[in-house]
Amino acid sequence: MVHTLLESRPHDFRITVLDQSFEMIKYCVTKVHDTGKIYPTVGQLEAMPFVDATFDVTLVMGALEYTNIRLAIREISRVTRPEGLIIVTMLNPLSAYRLADLLLLSPATRLLGVVEKLRGVPTGHRHGGHPSGIRAYPVFILRHLMRQAGLQPVDIIYFDVTPTIPPFDRLPGMIRRAERTPYERTVTRGWRRWMGTAYLITARRS
Ligand SMILES: C[S@@+](CC[C@H](N)C(=O)[O-])C[C@H]1O[C@@H](n2cnc3c(N)ncnc32)[C@H](O)[C@@H]1O
Repeated sequence: MVHTLLESRPHDFRITVLDQSFEMIKYCVTKVHDTGKIYPTVGQLEAMPFVDATFDVTLVMGALEYTNIRLAIREISRVTRPEGLIIVTMLNPLSAYRLADLLLLSPATRLLGVVEKLRGVPTGHRHGGHPSGIRAYPVFILRHLMRQAGLQPVDIIYFDVTPTIPPFDRLPGMIRRAERTPYERTVTRGWRRWMGTAYLITARRS
C-alpha cells in the first residue's frame, strides 16, 4: 500500500508507517525510492507515539485483529484530525468461510490431533494445538466501538469474496478459479457480503 500510494500519486502523500515489528517497518522502507516522504515508526497501535490530531487519514490494514481493540480504536481516533478519514480492515467472523472454519474445519483438526496423540504421534507433528490469537469482530460490534470512540462510520465494503469454504479452497481447481476471478467480483456492498471473508469500514472523526 505504501509503495502503491507513493508511486501512483507521488505529490499527494507523506506517509507515517507504524508496526510493532521492526522487520515489517524495514520491509516498507527499503523498497521506497523517495524516503523523504515516509516516516517509519516502531510502536504499538494501542499507544501510538504521536500527538493528538496528527493525521489527515489513518489506515489500519490487517492489524486490529491482533490488538486490544478498544484501546487501539481510541488511539486511532485520537491521532486523526477532526473530520479526518479513518479506514480500518477486519476479518469477517460471520462469513460462510470463517464460520465453516470455526464450526467444521477447526473442530475436525483438533479431533485429528487427539487421535494422533492416542496413536503416539509426537508433539509438533500433530494437527491442531496452536490457537491463532486473532480476534475478529462482526461489523455491528466494530461499528459500535468506533462510535464510542468518536468516529462516524460512513461506508462498509466486504472483500475477499469467495463462494468456497475451507478445506475445499485448497483444492487446485478452486485455487485456479480464485486466481482467475476479476478483482471487481471479490468486493461487494450487496447481498454477497456473507461471502466476504473480510470487510473494511471507512469513518470520519467527529
Ligand atoms: C497480518 S500483518 C499485516 C501487515 C500490514 N499491515 C499489511 O497490511 O500487510 C499484521 C501486522 O500487525 C502487526 N501488529 C500486531 N499487533 C500489533 C500492535 N498491537 N501494534 C502494532 N502492530 C501490531 C504485526 O507486527 C504484523 O506486522
